[in-house]
Amino acid sequence: METVLSGIRPTGNLHLGNYFGAVKNFLRMQNENKSFFFIADYHSLTTHPTPQDLHKNVKNVLAEYLAVGLDPEIATIYIQSDVPEIPELYLLLNMNAYIGELERTTSFKDKVRSQPDNVNAGLLTYPVLMAADILIHNADKVPVGKDQEQNLEMARKFARRFNQMYTEYFKIPQAYNFGEELVKIPGLDGTGKMGKSEGNGIFLIDEPKVLRQKVMRAVTDAGPTEKDSPIAEPIQNLFDIMKVVSTPDTLQFFIDKYKSCEIRYGDLKKQLAEDILSFTNPIRERIIDITNNEQYLSKVVKMGAEKARESASKTLKDVRSIIGFKSF
Ligand code: TYM
Repeated sequence: METVLSGIRPTGNLHLGNYFGAVKNFLRMQNENKSFFFIADYHSLTTHPTPQDLHKNVKNVLAEYLAVGLDPEIATIYIQSDVPEIPELYLLLNMNAYIGELERTTSFKDKVRSQPDNVNAGLLTYPVLMAADILIHNADKVPVGKDQEQNLEMARKFARRFNQMYTEYFKIPQAYNFGEELVKIPGLDGTGKMGKSEGNGIFLIDEPKVLRQKVMRAVTDAGPTEKDSPIAEPIQNLFDIMKVVSTPDTLQFFIDKYKSCEIRYGDLKKQLAEDILSFTNPIRERIIDITNNEQYLSKVVKMGAEKARESASKTLKDVRSIIGFKSF
């Protein structure tokens, strides 16, 4: 049996990118594998949330993940900060992670550019903590979106390095999407991936009115002028979202209209908004129910922490002994 692990940083609500990039794969795998799903609350400290926001966001994503179908009786669902073995493994892995390679990662370089006043050491060593998350359960497969590919490469590098320095212990984890390309769900602002920023993301919790407004305001262009002209990026982005929420026939209908220069973006957006809503509406109702059920949430978290620690402490005990920490 293989071990599957995935996680999310609790920095806001769950959006379509999170769902179609990572969660959907995880859901397809949770039954046949030993599966772990966790909320990376330590990771979210790199952006300095207030204590209230930190707790609120952890609760939100927990309720959202349960609402989309993660099953706490099957998968181990836990909060990173409930498992002290993770930061200990992080400390140990840090000794063999080099500043140069960490500085060269794309996400670190992006952060240096986007938040020059807060280039903290946690940001630099982010991939090491992520490797610790994965290696603490010796995971084989990690369902993630395309944006996490480089972090996974780093995790593999740290695992290999440990195995070479000491002994073959860690498996080499794979970023996973059923043999297909990793997914990148685009945002509504015409360029780049869907994220949490205003105007770009569609959240599972969005009210129908808000969601329709967002889609209707999505960036488009002046429209195709020649038959069979290549599809412009903002429109391709809308088609890419359509690909995951609409039927193939609907998608093909609008692509054909584009190609014959008959497309009306208003119609495309209306259809897209309705197809997204058919997907998100039932989920939103479950999110609300689960968020209000404090007792259930607390039970899930306790059960998850216990199961996660059982697995993590076994790995850490082995690793400590391999490194040479022996008791007297
Ligand atoms: P995070 O919280 O940014 O995103 C959670 C998951 O959603 C995927 N994702 C996307 N996939 C496709 N298209 C998008 N637009 C999109 N936006 C987000 C991400 O690829 C991710 O799978 N560093 C991680 C959290 C993490 C983690 C881990 C993940 C920490 N430790 C260990 C896996 C294993 C992150 O920030 O994801």
